[in-house]
Amino acid sequence: MLEVKNLRKEYGPLTAVKGISFSLKPGDIFGFIGSNGAGKTTTIRMISTLLEPTSGTAVLNGADIIANPMDVRRMIGYMPDFFGLYDDVKVWEYLDFFAAIYRVPSGQRHDIITNVLELTDLTVKKDAFVQSLSRGMQQRLCLARCLVHDPALLLLDEPASGLDPRARADLKELIAELGRMGKIVIVSSHILPELADFCNCVGIIERGELLAFGTVDDVVRGIQPTRELEIRVLADAPNAARAVSAMNGVHEVRSTGEDTVRVEFSGTLEGQADIIDKLVRDGYRVVGLREQQADLEDVFLRLTTGAVN
Ligand SMILES: Nc1ncnc2c1ncn2[C@@H]1O[C@H](COP(=O)(O)OP(=O)(O)O)[C@@H](O)[C@H]1O
Ligand SMILES: [Mg+2]
Repeated sequence: MLEVKNLRKEYGPLTAVKGISFSLKPGDIFGFIGSNGAGKTTTIRMISTLLEPTSGTAVLNGADIIANPMDVRRMIGYMPDFFGLYDDVKVWEYLDFFAAIYRVPSGQRHDIITNVLELTDLTVKKDAFVQSLSRGMQQRLCLARCLVHDPALLLLDEPASGLDPRARADLKELIAELGRMGKIVIVSSHILPELADFCNCVGIIERGELLAFGTVDDVVRGIQPTRELEIRVLADAPNAARAVSAMNGVHEVRSTGEDTVRVEFSGTLEGQADIIDKLVRDGYRVVGLREQQADLEDVFLRLTTGAVN
């Protein structure tokens, strides 16, 4: 469990992070979204204990980043936005070096490194020199390095930037696997579509403020109160439209031709099911329903309106 409580960072007159709070549980993959300069790296560095907050704190499995930073460090893996790799080092040696730094007992290192290489799909490269790897492989190696001490929380700062689509897809799959292993993963990006489909939870940060937090659906619904349901019937659309016009959550109903009913709707999924149910019970032949909803990208644009520090 990670609880971020009123975390705040001031750099002189500039407040980079304005007291943000959220909590995550094991298995959560949190997409931390914001434009450049929004405060993502500052937040991540504070949670990773590398940067002292001006006020507020974060607690990971009972350990406080201010009071018990060493305990927190043992439980986290942090992948910075810019990472350096060492030249003339082989993949295996590189991981062994970091395992030693994290005080993984030497008797366990071999098995752990084997597992981590397997997980990050680098087994065939274990004897290759680090600098000979592609950018995508180097990125996975950095992630492998963050995993050797089996951390509970992974902080990945813009891990997908600069990767080609194939490498990005591999990285997504790997991050999803980490979630299934029960780790908490925080992954930041300034490019929304990168994150929407594999995070169970997103937060939008702008000018140091967390403007929205929750599941993708909640965040989208919170911003867009109504959505359009497009219901196709075999015939008699105008009457079908009248039949549902007074139902809960229905704001406006239109029919197009004889086969399409458009409902401006703000109800729950239950209410949406009730509409279909009513039409079927009234004898209309329902062919299908399409839900037109704003996506996360619309929400992001609307919330941030291009505002950058
Ligand atoms: N060491 C620093 N000193 C002064 N200002 C900083 C420092 N680091 C970051 N900032 C400022 O804090 C704000 C947030 O930066 P950052 O957390 O790096 O954003 P992001 O990672 O979302 O791009 C920016 O306005 C940035 O210029
Ligand atoms: Mg950053």
